[in-house]
Amino acid sequence: MNGPGDRLDSLKLGITKRYGNKTVLDNLELDIRKGEFVTFLGPSGCGKSTALSIVAGLIAATEGEIRLNGARVDHLPPEKRAFGMVFQNYALFPHMTVFDNVSFGLTLKPLSKEEIKKRTDAMLKLVQLTGYEERYPGQLSGGQQQRVAIARALVLHPRLMLFDEPLSNLDAKLRVEMRAEIKQIHAALGLTSIYVTHDQAEALSLSDRIVLLRNGVLMQSGTPQEIHDRPKNVFVADFMGFRNFFKVRIASVSNGIAEGVGDGIRIRARAGADVRVDTDMVMAIRPDDIRAGGEVVSGAEDVSGRVEVVEYLGREQEAAIRINDNTRVWLRTAEAIRTADTIGLQFPIDKVVLLPAE
Ligand SMILES: Nc1ncnc2c1ncn2[C@@H]1O[C@H](COP(=O)(O)OP(=O)(O)O)[C@@H](O)[C@H]1O
Ligand SMILES: [Mg+2]
Repeated sequence: MNGPGDRLDSLKLGITKRYGNKTVLDNLELDIRKGEFVTFLGPSGCGKSTALSIVAGLIAATEGEIRLNGARVDHLPPEKRAFGMVFQNYALFPHMTVFDNVSFGLTLKPLSKEEIKKRTDAMLKLVQLTGYEERYPGQLSGGQQQRVAIARALVLHPRLMLFDEPLSNLDAKLRVEMRAEIKQIHAALGLTSIYVTHDQAEALSLSDRIVLLRNGVLMQSGTPQEIHDRPKNVFVADFMGFRNFFKVRIASVSNGIAEGVGDGIRIRARAGADVRVDTDMVMAIRPDDIRAGGEVVSGAEDVSGRVEVVEYLGREQEAAIRINDNTRVWLRTAEAIRTADTIGLQFPIDKVVLLPAE
């Protein structure tokens, strides 16, 4: 393995990147600990690849610094940082066999032939490519090529792995399989990883921590559960699959429960100590958290409406229900539901999140 000087105990970023007068990363601050799997998540163009490339040393930050175990590394060229990189477009050497692709980095080091073969074979086994040593990249599927790219980076025992949308070119089924493999390898080798994706399901399933970016600004950083269940603003909630947003004015707050009125409905949510009566806020709920059907109990948060659209999703359906002239509610349910049905809806108080007005 690496000598003690090559370890990663912590990585600390504080970086700003501008192109001309356009700020593409606005003081992105982050502290990564040994063994963590951190994901940069956000829509296309939000600055994920820029941030990763700055960590890798492929581009320079305009301002700020990167500290590895407390010491600055932002002046070091990529090879001196000893980080591994895997990109969306594999970037394999097409004229070299699988074995030669994976062992390439090792041949540049003072290692014996036997040692190189031993380490390459072990890595090929780990990514389940034993038996493919003599093939060329053009003779492999996309998933196999990406496994070669991962093995090529891992064989050098990088102290940090950087992945930039490594699964984006694969079909949906393979993406899910490879996702599990990456997670397994990260754990098995005790890696520290930064992973870039625009796919929220991928981020949720892989990460210890998700860093959600919008236009180069950190929107929220937290565990998958925190980001999924407790988004801090409308952008994060929208990105993470909340589909119902109600603009409300807070009518009352008592016993930690706020009641909002607006968009023709009345809805309640748990509220922190800072929520004040008469402020404008947004209340949001996921389609699959709304309860439907049954009897409409007379309660403030019960509404009913007419089904306008049904999207068939296989196991479930997602339906748009018009509850008044201005407002439709999206409901996800496994129950049979048809256009023009009238349906009662309840918003469970623990599933409603309270967000600042935009
Ligand atoms: N070399 C460059 N010159 C000018 N603008 C750039 C350059 N590289 C990236 N950008 C801009 O920076 C922003 C972030 O890009 P990028 O990091 O590639 O986003 P993401 O990976 O999240 O899709 C985008 O608006 C992009 O157009
Ligand atoms: Mg990108």
